[in-house]
Amino acid sequence: MATEQTLVLVKPDGVARGLTGAILARIEAKGYSLVDIRLVDPDRERLEQHYAEHEGKPFYEPLLEFMMSGPSVAIRLAGNRVIEGFRSLAGTTDPTTAAPGTIRGDFGRDWGLAVQQNLVHGSDSVESANRELAIWFD
Ligand code: PPS
Repeated sequence: MATEQTLVLVKPDGVARGLTGAILARIEAKGYSLVDIRLVDPDRERLEQHYAEHEGKPFYEPLLEFMMSGPSVAIRLAGNRVIEGFRSLAGTTDPTTAAPGTIRGDFGRDWGLAVQQNLVHGSDSVESANRELAIWFD
């Protein structure tokens, strides 16, 4: 079986709070391989491509604004079953209720802001990973 790859983003809140190192430490401790990593200040066009499936949803515009508020760290991560493995490390979308022990559960919460900030993104399928990796590592 070919080793899987996924796109991980440390979102602007994670970078601004100085949590990139802590998040990378969890990824490395789990045993996944960093293939490429870069700091990216995404423009709207890149984010429209990345979040195309969510266009029209109530959180779409606030999410794009949030993602343009500062740089993200984009990571090409490799390992067997890394897609589901990283999403398990990340925890569920809502950081308030994400399980303790996960990235979102340990470091995230509801800050009472207009937009939900949940620290990381991980691709949700092989198809999404291939599409998203091309957007962030073109
Ligand atoms: S959905 O509709 O069930 O597919 O949405 P979900 O998988 O829960 O979330 C998809 C991405 O949208 C982000 N999201 C939000 N961002 C800001 N504010 C609000 N209210 C909000 N709701 C969902 C969520 O963090 C997911 O982002 P990514 O980067 O894909 O993890």
